[in-house]
Amino acid sequence: MHNYRIRTAKFQLTISFFSSLLLFAMLQIFFLFVPSAHSLLISCLAFAFSFLIQFIMETNSLTKDYRLLRDHLDNIDLFIKTLSSGRLSARMKVENGGAISQVEQSLNELADKIDTQVKLLQRLVDENVQMNVKVKNEAVTEERQRLARDLHDAVSQQLFALSMLASAAEKTIHSNPELAAENIADVSDIARKAQGEMRALLLHLRPVRLNNESLDKGLERLIHELDGKTMIHFEASIDPVSGLSKGVENHLFRLSQEALSNALRHSEATKVVLSLHEKDQLVVLTIFDNGQGFDPKQEKVASYGLKTMKERAEEIGGHFLLTTHEGEGTSIHIRVPIHREASNSDGEN
Ligand SMILES: Nc1ncnc2c1ncn2[C@@H]1O[C@H](COP(=O)(O)OP(=O)(O)OP(=O)(O)O)[C@@H](O)[C@H]1O
Ligand SMILES: [Mg+2]
Repeated sequence: MHNYRIRTAKFQLTISFFSSLLLFAMLQIFFLFVPSAHSLLISCLAFAFSFLIQFIMETNSLTKDYRLLRDHLDNIDLFIKTLSSGRLSARMKVENGGAISQVEQSLNELADKIDTQVKLLQRLVDENVQMNVKVKNEAVTEERQRLARDLHDAVSQQLFALSMLASAAEKTIHSNPELAAENIADVSDIARKAQGEMRALLLHLRPVRLNNESLDKGLERLIHELDGKTMIHFEASIDPVSGLSKGVENHLFRLSQEALSNALRHSEATKVVLSLHEKDQLVVLTIFDNGQGFDPKQEKVASYGLKTMKERAEEIGGHFLLTTHEGEGTSIHIRVPIHREASNSDGEN
């Protein structure tokens, strides 16, 4: 057991002085009864001797206490360093009693807490990783189901209608050529729609990112690929825009894909125009179709395209504007500020 007497040298001196003075006084009283010629000398010597002896003894024990205290503090320091280095299972040997043992006990309790917290944190990280994998798998499954549903709802039903109309036309071509002509016109109409749906689905399946090409080149390639594959005529008016970060370019590319996909699937347009320009430190992307338009107030339950487009534009600090009227086509207008300094340094990295 180590109980430290933490006293100051001044306090120690005072104690020694007064106890020696007491001895001096007692000797003086003694010499009153037993007179002696050297009474004062003897008392003074006794005082000096007592003072010296006490002082040496106390100083000695104080030095010993100081060493013990220093050893304990060194141990505490070493223990804290061990904990910081990550060995959280280490614990201090607690000496019984004394102020320092309380500190050691508290440090051990603190180490217990840190150990528990770290274990908890690791479990959370593990769970997070598992959750991410699960969410990713669910997203993939959901996307597959969506594609399957789209294929079934649109293309497969259109193919069924096509086969019905074609066989009806075949049967009536001699007996009722006018009806057969009507059926054939319907066949052509439905085939065009199915083609648009297929194109839109393929657009969904496309890689999300630009393949290491600039936004203007990627968009030109996209429009070039779409033009001539359906009844819609695709036009592009694209200027190279410098100073866009890769993230902004990818977002703008995805926005274009979604807008073109909608035009292919829903617009029944004959012409779609995509333009990309820079104006007043803003990149301006417009996708216009001259199709049937729609009522934007009528929200569809399982439709996410327009909502996602708005969110995606806002994510890059942009502004999304949809203009459409029934029978007057649809136009999507996106403006995003260009931060040249930041994006230039991005490019340098
Ligand atoms: N260019 C367009 N021309 C005509 N109608 C459109 C056009 N774009 C969107 N719409 C209408 O707005 C609706 C919502 O479009 P949105 O892109 O949000 O969903 P979606 O295309 O139906 O489904 P998805 O979630 O696969 O995109 C469409 O169902 C369609 O009726
Ligand atoms: Mg859509």
